[in-house]
Amino acid sequence: MEKLYPESGVELNPFVSKHYDKLMNIISFGKYKSFIHRAISDMQIRKEDTILDFGCGTGRNACLMMHYLGDKGFITGMDISETMEKQFTENCRQHPNVEFINRRIDQPFKLEKTYDKVFISFVLHGFPQNIRENIIKNAFSHLKPGGNFNILDFGEFDMHAMPFYYRIPFQKGECPYAFDFIERDLKDMLAGSGFGDFKEHLYFHGYGRLMVAHKPS
Ligand SMILES: C[S@@+](CC[C@H](N)C(=O)[O-])C[C@H]1O[C@@H](n2cnc3c(N)ncnc32)[C@H](O)[C@@H]1O
Repeated sequence: MEKLYPESGVELNPFVSKHYDKLMNIISFGKYKSFIHRAISDMQIRKEDTILDFGCGTGRNACLMMHYLGDKGFITGMDISETMEKQFTENCRQHPNVEFINRRIDQPFKLEKTYDKVFISFVLHGFPQNIRENIIKNAFSHLKPGGNFNILDFGEFDMHAMPFYYRIPFQKGECPYAFDFIERDLKDMLAGSGFGDFKEHLYFHGYGRLMVAHKPS
């Protein structure tokens, strides 16, 4: 897949895409599983929710979210990687209420339905600021009134003040867009597109954050 944003760390190469879940487990010293369980539980998913997952990856998150949904719940995963599509389809095969759409989230698009929740996990940081704004607009336009946008990503922090055992992997492993993202005011960004009533959940001393932003009813 050709990269549109050469400095992006979320436009993954086929090797990283293929081994993404395992790599996350290794990089987090085995803590990723409990972290993602907690973050998804903090989303307060209701049985009947419909969820649009931007940059859905392997389907690991979709499968976890499915545990909270009943028969009327539904998940649409969107991603541009064929390697991710294969894993998503395989991992979610036992869930009839899950679909995959191969579509870019960084450019305007219009699906036929709107959703109760849009979820984006460790994707938003990996784009230039003007493109993040496009993604936020896409989330807003695909939410029902009263729905919420759930952004799981890096929090706001000073990289230079991190303990070395967090700072070195972050500096070596993350892309320049991530260094920019952690210095931005996410609430401000979201408010600019019409979101409000923010709720934050912090993980790993605030280096990770779930931001829940509401679309007015
Ligand atoms: C860092 S991974 C995160 C995957 C997943 N959200 C998770 O938390 O496990 C980034 C994902 O975003 C996808 N992606 C990158 N650019 C995209 C774009 N423009 N539109 C849709 N998906 C994109 C990648 O293919 C990859 O699956």
